[in-house]
Amino acid sequence: MNIKKHVKRGLWNHLMKSGIEMGLASIIYEVGVASKYVNHAMRTGDLGLAGTSNLYGEDQLALDVVADEIIKDRLDHTGRVSRIISEEQSEIVIFERQSRVGGYSVCYDPLDGSSLVDVNLSVGTIVAIYAGDDPLQSGRHQVGAMYVLYGPRTTLVYGASNGVHEFTLNNLGEYVLTQEYIQVKERGKIFSPGGIRRDYLPEHEEIVKKLENDGYKLRYSGGFVPDINQILLKGGGLFMYPATTKAEHGKLRLPFELNPMAYLIELAGGAASDGRRPILELDCYDLDQRSPVYIGSREEVEMATQYFK
Ligand code: F6P
Ligand code: MN
Repeated sequence: MNIKKHVKRGLWNHLMKSGIEMGLASIIYEVGVASKYVNHAMRTGDLGLAGTSNLYGEDQLALDVVADEIIKDRLDHTGRVSRIISEEQSEIVIFERQSRVGGYSVCYDPLDGSSLVDVNLSVGTIVAIYAGDDPLQSGRHQVGAMYVLYGPRTTLVYGASNGVHEFTLNNLGEYVLTQEYIQVKERGKIFSPGGIRRDYLPEHEEIVKKLENDGYKLRYSGGFVPDINQILLKGGGLFMYPATTKAEHGKLRLPFELNPMAYLIELAGGAASDGRRPILELDCYDLDQRSPVYIGSREEVEMATQYFK
């Protein structure tokens, strides 16, 4: 075994060589550490997690609450995070004791698609990182984003000024580099349509018809992280969660779900739009803010936006 090569390809080593700021690197790394505990909790149902068991007492907590606590603790542990918002919290959480030097704010969805765990489908953790004390900013201001996908394998994708990179959790509990400088294809072959057809708006109905007529294959798991991961890493394509007659802003949340994924997809050369404007340019003012989304390969996103002109 080439030990030197092996060590070089770990997540921390990659972060250090990437030249990104130390605080940002440690946030990405610590979310990676947290994800191993989330992974363990999910796969074993064992809630006796290191250093946190007293918090939970005898109660059986829902997995997404457990994941939230684990990630919150690790973010606090970095000493570089001043504020967080999480899909599991109703308000901004302030870490009081943080030094003000080089602070970051983090928005995260600890366990997206958690109801899919019961039926053994893939789920994920999604994270957006901003410099400073304001976690509610337009997505364009992100300095980094990442997701962890808990599937047959556990993988971590992070993006920052140095590009988008994928790591795979090995049997030693290390995230090892699998792909660097990922680029999403200009045009793909699959589409992932969220929502119920009965509730589609006419523009969206036309978009879906065009994709079907053009021979796109349906690939929709109901988990945002695996669905985006497939588009990013495999063959490109288009993920959609539209505005509907029942929900004019769609379903997916801007701060925890759409902004970080839009950041990663754009960084990899793809695009993300609400149909009219880039997702990353939408004002973000509310924890529960939602937006319709068309995200993936550039050509398909551009095609979708034509229907809203
Ligand atoms: O936000 C939660 C989520 O489960 C996403 O992971 C997924 O893309 C979406 O909701 C699925 O919604 P639906 O069940 O309406 O397709
Ligand atoms: Mn979610």
